[in-house]
Order: sequence, then structure tokens, then C-alpha cells
Amino acid sequence: MASLSHLKPGEKGRIRVEIDLAGKRGPVTKTVQVFSNDPKRPVVTLTATMRVRDRMHMKTYRATQIFESPCSGCHVEQGRGKAGFDLFRADCFMCHNAGAAATNISQMSGRPEAHIRRVIRDGVEGTSMPGWARKNGGPLTDAEIESLVAIIIRPN
Ligand code: HEC
Ligand code: HEC
Repeated sequence: MASLSHLKPGEKGRIRVEIDLAGKRGPVTKTVQVFSNDPKRPVVTLTATMRVRDRMHMKTYRATQIFESPCSGCHVEQGRGKAGFDLFRADCFMCHNAGAAATNISQMSGRPEAHIRRVIRDGVEGTSMPGWARKNGGPLTDAEIESLVAIIIRPN
């Protein structure tokens, strides 16, 4: 909705845009076309891009909070008893897929094996990547971590 229907040259107005986010999640883009009698630019397209979070993901948490209830229901429980790709898909993919902010599996596979192992065990300070090893309060055994290292260094 525009604050003024007529603008003199150089004059400013505001456009209020409401977006229905029901059922939306992740990156959302909304475009608005503004039509005017400006001879040079009769149509201007405005683009608003946002990242939609649900109630579970509104705040920034300690990284290790995903190991606790209620977060663990989606972030840990699905991976119980799994190894390798199945474990990666259950516990890691939500942050490490092609569209997400963190590296995807093929980008990771170019990193040194020791680095990959250490990051999975101990996490990355200052990010949402927690240390998954038992000694860090994480849910994964050494064998489960090794199964992840193996599929990351050789994803095919
Ligand atoms: C209903 C399942 C579910 C629950 C419960 C849940 N998550 Fe998530 N989480 C996901 C999914 C799926 C993603 C992948 C990104 C997306 O779809 O938004 C994700 C992504 C994330 C991310 C990375 C992306 C971001 O938004 O920063 C963090 C951090 C995170 N969750 C933390 C938490 C914490 C902390 C809790 C508990 C307060 C929690 N999650 C509860 C399913 C869940
Ligand atoms: C809540 C989101 C989240 C979850 C779940 C998660 N990670 Fe991460 N991970 C990150 C972030 C953020 C980084 C740091 C930024 C980056 O390297 O992309 C990271 C970094 C990494 C790195 C280092 C990548 C590099 O190039 O240096 C590896 C390896 C990794 N994670 C593996 C895993 C594995 C394996 C799992 C599942 C057991 C997992 N991650 C689960 C968010 C997450």
C-alpha cells in the first residue's frame, strides 16, 4: 500500500508491503511492481528477501542446545542407531545441504580428514556447529563419528 498516490518529481513516499508467511520456511522472496507515469522507468520492481524461521528457530541458542529436548526430537532422535549417509541425512543435512548457510557435503570433502574429524567431535566455536562427541556432551559414539568422516571424505 502506497502512502501517497501522487508524487511530485523528487518527492518521497512509503510503500507498505504485507506478506503472508503461512506455511513458508527458509529463504522467501517477494517482489512488488510499482507502476508510474515516469517516462524513463514506468515500472520498478522491488524485491524483498528474507529468511523465515518457525517458533523453534527464532532465537540464537547455544550450539549444544540441539542435543536437548525439545530440539533433540528433530536434531538427534532421528539419527539414533544410524551410521554413515543415513546418520548424515538425519542429523547433519538440515544444516549442511546445498541451500543452507553451512558447507555442503561435497565442499566438506575437499577438507583434510583430520580437520573434518576434529570439527565433528569438537564443533566450531562461535557457530551453530556443536561438538558431537560424547566427551563434549554430544550424542555420537566414536564409531558413529568415524562413519561420518568416511562418507564425507569419499561421498561417492
Ligand atoms: C520440528 C523439528 C525441529 C525442532 C523441534 C527443532 N529444529 Fe532446528 N531445524 C530443523 C530443520 C528441519 C532445520 C533446517 C533448516 C530449516 O528448515 O529451517 C533446522 C535448523 C536449525 C538450525 C540451523 C539453521 C538456523 O535456523 O539457524 C539451528 C541452529 C537449529 N535448527 C537449532 C534448533 C534449536 C536450538 C531447537 C530447539 C529450541 C530446534 N532447532 C528445534 C528442525 C527442527
Ligand atoms: C545446527 C546446524 C548444524 C548441524 C545440525 C550440523 N552442523 Fe556442521 N557446521 C555448522 C556450521 C554453522 C559450521 C561452520 C560453518 C561451515 O563450515 O560451513 C559447520 C561446520 C562443519 C564442518 C567443517 C566444514 C569445513 O569446511 O570446515 C564439518 C565437517 C561439519 N560441520 C560436519 C557436520 C556433521 C557430520 C554433522 C552431523 C553430525 C553436522 N555438521 C551437523 C552447522 C551445523
